[in-house]
Amino acid sequence: MKLRPVTMADADFLLELKNDPEVRRWAIISHDEIKKENHLFWLRKKLLEDVRFFILVEGQDKLGDLRVEADREISVRIVEKFRGKGYASKALNSIAGSVYAKIVEGNIASMNLFTHNGFKFFDYREGVYYLKRP
Ligand SMILES: CC(C)(COP(=O)(O)OP(=O)(O)OC[C@H]1O[C@@H](n2cnc3c(N)ncnc32)[C@H](O)[C@@H]1OP(=O)(O)O)[C@@H](O)C(=O)NCCC(=O)NCCS
Repeated sequence: MKLRPVTMADADFLLELKNDPEVRRWAIISHDEIKKENHLFWLRKKLLEDVRFFILVEGQDKLGDLRVEADREISVRIVEKFRGKGYASKALNSIAGSVYAKIVEGNIASMNLFTHNGFKFFDYREGVYYLKRP
């Protein structure tokens, strides 16, 4: 598996991934389905920002995405059929430096992912756990 930078050609893949039921369920800001026009606006803007944004790929398959925001918040999403195979762990470990994650209370898969990969709890606010990797 490797990480390659996102381009606008990944827009449809990313929209489908963001609208995956598990991804929407554990989203922090809104659980609503994301509309294509809003997604395209968001993606164009994101690609101009100081963000590390990657697609996880293996051969011809796109497995998911990983993003590190300018404030060092890291997030990762894996396509349903590729979950539970260690891809998110590998992706996290390929990112160097200090990063933090926000995990909605009850998101067991995400909590296990981050705690099993060196992230430590440092805050809890309004139903969201904050974990960081020094
Ligand atoms: C959270 C998510 C990224 C995990 O991706 P993944 O590739 O399946 O994770 P991994 O296979 O690397 O598993 C990491 C650890 O979490 C555990 N885990 C993964 N899915 C789990 C689940 N559904 N229930 C319990 N534990 C789970 C694994 O057993 C593994 O533990 P281990 O290190 O002891 O083996 C994936 O489930 C996903 O995309 N969920 C929807 C989006 C989301 O919640 N993203 C996180 C927000 S930052």
